[in-house]
Amino acid sequence: LNLGVLASGRGSNFQAIIDAIAWGVLPAKIKVLVTDNPEAYAIERARRAGIPWHYFDPKGFKNKEEYEKEIVKTLLSYEVDTVCLAGYMRLIGKPLLSSFPMRIINIHPALLPAFPGLHAQKQALDYGVKIAGCTVHFVDEGMDTGPIILQAAVPVYDDDSEESLSERILEQEHRILVEALRLLSENRLLVEGRRVRILPDGG
Ligand code: GRF
Repeated sequence: LNLGVLASGRGSNFQAIIDAIAWGVLPAKIKVLVTDNPEAYAIERARRAGIPWHYFDPKGFKNKEEYEKEIVKTLLSYEVDTVCLAGYMRLIGKPLLSSFPMRIINIHPALLPAFPGLHAQKQALDYGVKIAGCTVHFVDEGMDTGPIILQAAVPVYDDDSEESLSERILEQEHRILVEALRLLSENRLLVEGRRVRILPDGG
């Protein structure tokens, strides 16, 4: 895989991909990081790993379409074939979707279709669920609505705070995001409508 990563913040999922590649468990190369936040700690992680990064200010463009076109241009200039959203806090639009059809994946900290959108862990706590988790999915035009690749569940404890639950979920995010990318790199994901079939290991 030639990966382009989009991240807006801390970038621990980005780091999980960097580490998996360094450990030799993910046959991929991160070609570039794109961020919409000049303060994102993800930038520091890219620097340390020697990964090129670009910051684009959405407000510096006429509209969202022009902003995304610039991102697409950048990704293509690095020969990116697969895009990973790792804590990228924006809805993906036409330019990116049409340039990378079924090649954009996202990690979301809830068991979709429950709790899409922002503050998913808090939504889960407030709702009172006993099982929470995370989802890796292909990205479509909706908010956290695309075909599901992998999910992982974690328990919710009575004394959980948003922080403690988020931390438990995050560990699983790092694991299933890398796993999904590995399956993608091995061409083992078959999308049939909403359902993603995982093909057996051919090797
Ligand atoms: C993660 O919980 C991710 O699922 C959500 O935002 C958080 C980003 O964390 N969309 P990080 O930037 O990868 O550390």
